[in-house]
Amino acid sequence: MKIRPLRSNDIPSLLELSQQAGWNQTQADWERMIALAPDACHGIEADDRIVSSTTGIRHGHDLAWIGMVLTHEAHRGRGYATALVQHAIDHLRDKVAWIKLDATDTGKPVYARLGFQDETEVQRWERKPGPVEKASSYLIHEYAVDPSFDRAYFGAYRVPLLNALRRDGESCFVVGYGYAMSRPGARARHLGPCVVRSTEAARALVEDVLAKHGGESVIWDLFPSNADAVRLAKQYGFQPMRHLTRMALPCRPDVLPILRNESSVFAIAGFEYG
Ligand SMILES: CC(C)(COP(=O)(O)OP(=O)(O)OC[C@H]1O[C@@H](n2cnc3c(N)ncnc32)[C@H](O)[C@@H]1OP(=O)(O)O)[C@@H](O)C(=O)NCCC(=O)NCCS
Repeated sequence: MKIRPLRSNDIPSLLELSQQAGWNQTQADWERMIALAPDACHGIEADDRIVSSTTGIRHGHDLAWIGMVLTHEAHRGRGYATALVQHAIDHLRDKVAWIKLDATDTGKPVYARLGFQDETEVQRWERKPGPVEKASSYLIHEYAVDPSFDRAYFGAYRVPLLNALRRDGESCFVVGYGYAMSRPGARARHLGPCVVRSTEAARALVEDVLAKHGGESVIWDLFPSNADAVRLAKQYGFQPMRHLTRMALPCRPDVLPILRNESSVFAIAGFEYG
């Protein structure tokens, strides 16, 4: 078994992996992940193609996020995912305080064996296409990433990710309250991240995204502990589709927890980013 860094010419086989699992990532998503972390996205090759993958994106020195843990159906149960996640941990352990990920029920046992512990629940909600009228009177602007605002709520520095998502998608902003982004996906438009310190401003931002993209299915990944986000999702016709477990691994015995303000995180960036 040989582990090697992912390159952009692996993208056709990587897309096949994410499509086989029914995931929403596009070619642009894989390109973005490899560009954000060229030294921490790895794969295992067989028959001249990547058959197992992981990404590991660092959010400053506090946090790294493992994602895109996928093994081709024909190559499962051979220890590939375990080896890649272990490799990612070894690579990231001395660079950050915490490593986290959002685990599917199939992935969870792999991570638990490697020392990850359950932290909280995240849910994917989905809305079928349908028109949305803009009712909110908030003025919506284009978003220019404000590092200290996002960090105060997300809990770690993720400006390179936010800038990359902004370039590849759309973003909107209510001055003084917060922002929302959305990007194209293979199955549905992805709403998130959305960090806002008022429910009514969050409503204005969600409404802005849905009014522009009423003709598309939209997915929204949220913390069910944020009751306002759940209420908004229901009001706009979203339904819960999947639940995942956020899991965390401290990289040193003395690390302090990352303080995230879940009540203002209306949408996470995605299971592959946190
Ligand atoms: C989850 C997933 C990545 C696991 O990939 P994998 O390469 O098969 O994982 P591993 O082989 O490392 O471990 C999986 C199982 O195989 C077992 N295994 C490991 N090495 C083995 C070997 N040499 N021979 C037989 N079984 C082995 C593991 O013990 C584990 O068993 P479990 O059923 O008790 O958990 C894969 O099933 C997948 O792509 N699923 C769809 C996408 C998904 O949910 N990804 C996780 C996102 S969080």
